[in-house]
Amino acid sequence: MTGSQPGHRILSRSIACFAFAGLLGTLPVEAQQKSKLPEAPGRATTEKLCGSCHGTNIFLNRRESREGWSGIVEDMIQRGAKGDDDQWGEVVDYLSQHLSKSTPVARVNVNTADEKDLAAGLGIPDAQGAAIVKYRTEKGKFKTVEDLLKVPGLKAATIEARKSSIDF
Ligand code: HEC
Repeated sequence: MTGSQPGHRILSRSIACFAFAGLLGTLPVEAQQKSKLPEAPGRATTEKLCGSCHGTNIFLNRRESREGWSGIVEDMIQRGAKGDDDQWGEVVDYLSQHLSKSTPVARVNVNTADEKDLAAGLGIPDAQGAAIVKYRTEKGKFKTVEDLLKVPGLKAATIEARKSSIDF
């Protein structure tokens, strides 16, 4: 060991950063994405149980009934999501109350939104958001949903389901 310990210094700086951000009532950039889910009881559990594989953006603009959300949660448990019965109850309650069919969906402009906002707005993985940005940078603005579907990797069904909240 030669005097300085960079690893340790970085760690304590990020802890300090966290504490400071907490005081300000804001979150570090990495966690900001999570805070897009509506603030309500059950959000922390939902972020914990549903955010580990794909982040919560993927379902931010999804609107389902209680049955719909129960089905999705079961599907995710099949895919390996971990939690106990109480936690799953909390998650289904949270999702069905705060991402219900009557919750407004945020609009997304596919010609101006950045990769993260595209991912959140369209309910797609970040990599697909990045593919949209790359495509429009190379080929110019999108004018229609059909243009958008030319982006490699986008699933037509996912985009079609959200087309009423897409702006050009
Ligand atoms: C163990 C990993 C894992 C966890 C935890 C997890 N998921 Fe998923 N989820 C996946 C995978 C894998 C996919 C498929 C991703 C894809 O199609 O690119 C997916 C896809 C989805 C989709 C998109 C489905 C579609 O095709 O339209 C939604 C919505 C979703 N997850 C919601 C949730 C919710 C809500 C939770 C918490 C209850 C959750 N996920 C937890 C692995 C997980």
